Amino acid sequence: MYSNDVSFEKKQMNESRQGEILVLDEAREHFNKFFYIESYGCSMNFSDSEIVASILNSAGYGNTRDFSKADLVLINTCSIRDKAEQTVRKRLELFNSFKREKPDMMVGVLGCMAERLKEKLLDEEKIVDLVVGPDAYRDLPKLVAKAEGGQKGVNVFLSREETYADINPVRLNSNGITAFISIMRGCDNMCSFCVVPYTRGRERSRDPISIVAEAQELVDKGYKEVTLLGQNVDSFKWSQEGKSTTTFANLLAMVAEVSPELRVRFSTSHPKDITDDVLHTMAKYQNICNYIHLPLQSGNSRILEKMNRTYDREWYKSKVDRIREVIPDCAISSDMIAGFCSETEEDHKDTLSMMEYVKYDMSYMFFYSERPGTLAQRKFDDDVPLKVKKRRLQEIIILQRQHSFERNCEDIGKTFTVLVEKVSKKSDKQFAGRNSYNQMIVFDKQQAKLGDYVDVRISEATSATLLGDIVNA
Ligand code: SAH
Ligand code: SF4
Ligand code: F3S
Repeated sequence: MYSNDVSFEKKQMNESRQGEILVLDEAREHFNKFFYIESYGCSMNFSDSEIVASILNSAGYGNTRDFSKADLVLINTCSIRDKAEQTVRKRLELFNSFKREKPDMMVGVLGCMAERLKEKLLDEEKIVDLVVGPDAYRDLPKLVAKAEGGQKGVNVFLSREETYADINPVRLNSNGITAFISIMRGCDNMCSFCVVPYTRGRERSRDPISIVAEAQELVDKGYKEVTLLGQNVDSFKWSQEGKSTTTFANLLAMVAEVSPELRVRFSTSHPKDITDDVLHTMAKYQNICNYIHLPLQSGNSRILEKMNRTYDREWYKSKVDRIREVIPDCAISSDMIAGFCSETEEDHKDTLSMMEYVKYDMSYMFFYSERPGTLAQRKFDDDVPLKVKKRRLQEIIILQRQHSFERNCEDIGKTFTVLVEKVSKKSDKQFAGRNSYNQMIVFDKQQAKLGDYVDVRISEATSATLLGDIVNA
């Protein structure tokens, strides 16, 4: 197990870039205590880890990528499906075996699993010294000091106001080109399958001025793309007495105006909330990417009602039609859940036929995993056998792969503007980057540099990637 872990660490080191190693070396000079953090789950969690890093830096802890050198090991966790929690438990087992040799090392669990299990986690996982929920990160220095004194530190208080607006995130694992900006926290949409409202609390938006300032700072540092993050970005709303309300469409325009060189993306859009204003704003600004993540979950209206998604099949279809009317070339992706409570073969076929209707560019696909405390767990039977869930999921995956492949093949011969984001995993003679539609494109480096925009003509396609050549070098 231990040797496995070493290779895991190596992988992280190899993937790191020069900029990050500099950060680490700089840290070595200024800090004499170090924390290590690994993150699971959604982009919001990864973005939160950057806030945690900033708070800990201010408290005198530098960041290390090697957990064997850390005084404080943190794991920022996800509870969305049972498997996500099992992964975390396995990591804790590994940290436990390491702690036997280094008893002073403190271990903290952050994020959604900390919030869901609270003090119970201390009983279940003896190794844990700190349990800190997503709204309590400002309290980390105090809790760490408590743990250093040999006590357990717990804060799982959920706030109605906290947005960490004033905290300048320390970019972890950054390529120096693309970054996340959290624009809101929490979720008020009680989807019956979902644990997020319980782990992240009530929805609240962040001051748009602080969001624009963060985007400006990223531009000043040479970043070329931001992704605005929220569980339901379309319900972003900021109002102050005597001033007009800032909607998500307004915010998108404000961020797009920071610089025409800055690409703007956002996630996630809820089909019930995405407005015409947002679509028109996307169409107006060339630097807002033509890509919408619009999770369907199920294509059957009865299941959607049971999921409490508050739209039905017809509503969803009309949303997709509207998107294509306003932005004809807009890419659309989805999340799907196979085998939700009471789902029949016919219901499942409705999901497949909806996929045929939309022809998603990409989807994240899961089988239903019952989560303790959710509405579905309390009210409905998790009655679709695991084997059936897995088979239905497989059918969804196969269909999606086919659609992604078909869509990608249509792009052969086309030329796209691509942001050069990284060296290709397969060859160091090639770069990889995305076009506006979020498609990953691999091409020979030629004279291009990381962070450049280049025009690439597509010559080959797989279901996951496009291959091509730079045409304006
Ligand atoms: N706020 C986003 C989703 C956040 S969770 C939205 O509303 O779309 C990401 C995805 O995980 C969800 O879209 C859903 O497809 C999946 N998911 C959530 N709870 C799940 C569960 N209990 N079992 C399986 N998949 C789940
Ligand atoms: Fe969960 Fe629904 Fe909120 Fe998304 S919108 S986070 S699926 S409750
Ligand atoms: Fe997971 Fe929490 Fe995100 S449950 S998906 S890390 S909001």
